[in-house]
Amino acid sequence: MKILVVGSGGREHALCYSFKKSKKAEKIFCANGNAGIGEIAELVDIKPDEIEKLADFAESNAIDLTFVGGETSLALGIVDEFEKRNLKIVGVSQKAAQLESSKSFAKDFMARHNIPTAKYKTAFSTDEAKEILESGFFGDENVPVVVKADGLAAGKGVVVAADRSKAVEAIEELESIAGQDAAEKIVLEETLFGSEVSLILFADGENFSLMPPVRDHKRIGEGDSGANTGGMGTVSDRKLLSEEQTTKIVGEIIKPTLEGAKADGFPIRGILFLGLMMTDSGAKVLEYNVRFGDPETQVILIQLKTDLVEICEAILAQSLDKILIEWQTGSAACVVLASRHYPNKPQTGDIIYGLDLARRHENTEIFHAGTAKDERGNFITSGGRVLGVTATGEGLSAAISRAYEAVKDISWNGLQYRRDIGR
Ligand code: AMP
Ligand code: GLY
Repeated sequence: MKILVVGSGGREHALCYSFKKSKKAEKIFCANGNAGIGEIAELVDIKPDEIEKLADFAESNAIDLTFVGGETSLALGIVDEFEKRNLKIVGVSQKAAQLESSKSFAKDFMARHNIPTAKYKTAFSTDEAKEILESGFFGDENVPVVVKADGLAAGKGVVVAADRSKAVEAIEELESIAGQDAAEKIVLEETLFGSEVSLILFADGENFSLMPPVRDHKRIGEGDSGANTGGMGTVSDRKLLSEEQTTKIVGEIIKPTLEGAKADGFPIRGILFLGLMMTDSGAKVLEYNVRFGDPETQVILIQLKTDLVEICEAILAQSLDKILIEWQTGSAACVVLASRHYPNKPQTGDIIYGLDLARRHENTEIFHAGTAKDERGNFITSGGRVLGVTATGEGLSAAISRAYEAVKDISWNGLQYRRDIGR
């Protein structure tokens, strides 16, 4: 089969790595990829938002299967366009993508289907948002409130404001941070407390299959300090959720979500990602994503034993209930190596040293996120998050130590990473 992966980050490198292992894959293309992906796939110079061009490419190159990495393409309707042209593609429809592309849509959906989530109000202007705060709906002025831009904002659209004055500040700044379109509506939410877990699943419109649970580390600094990022590292360990917790999440959140989506006319076929807060009163949904996470995917796919192409075929044939998806036992960890000044204005163009050495560690994969090659063929940094050093181990601490062992081999000018992933 000829397979096309859409996207260019560490997530897409992990996807290409999994497809590469498939007995059914003859050739892998990635639009638009990065230098690491370029080692295992043919890079195609089409961006994830160029839907027509991607469909043209799939058509003229007789691509047998397309897999969409990120939300941008899904929100623009890539799946609808491919299906219109009878091209096989794994991902959700544009309608279902609203669960991620509009936070107010997702909150209304959850309210309608009784899915546990933080109490919320949607405002249609900054003045209205401030009025809602003053109305006391979220309690007095010392109560923390979460301010969210409605639309896609690459992780920059959410502020957990410690008190009312910080919330007002966040409301006023939201448009300039998240962009005018994303901030056209503002969702205000009660702040939830607990530990966060990401739970991702394959869904075929009828059936679903859970992946191992993951914890992301979103802040730039150790001890969860500093600015939010796309994710500085992840761990995957079965102990993140007990069997009892998982059963409750399936019953109270996953089934109502899948059934609700179907009832509302947008069955979820592809990937669904639940960002959960494990509160004292049970799991609550912080957000839906309609795609794999980054860097969640790296720790998930390194544990996948089943052929990813077969899973995709089962999703398309609506027969996920007929295959057994197998995972390695044990744990996995991914440490993100970022460039200087990430997440603000990352410095790029630095030569990356030690990749060959780092690659030699057993049970370790180096997934590239923001890399390119210079004219002499050296790998150089080309983005904020540069590499995801990912390892498996029998237990979590073994996986973490193994990942950090490989990290030691890698260096460049301005390299930064967190030393406390999983701790
Ligand atoms: P979101 O993109 O909606 O998942 O928000 C990004 C991050 O903001 C989450 O991973 C949480 O750390 C935090 N967050 C979002 N909503 C809430 C909430 N209601 N209570 C506490 N933290 C939240
Ligand atoms: N790592 C968080 C996300 O992919 O949304």
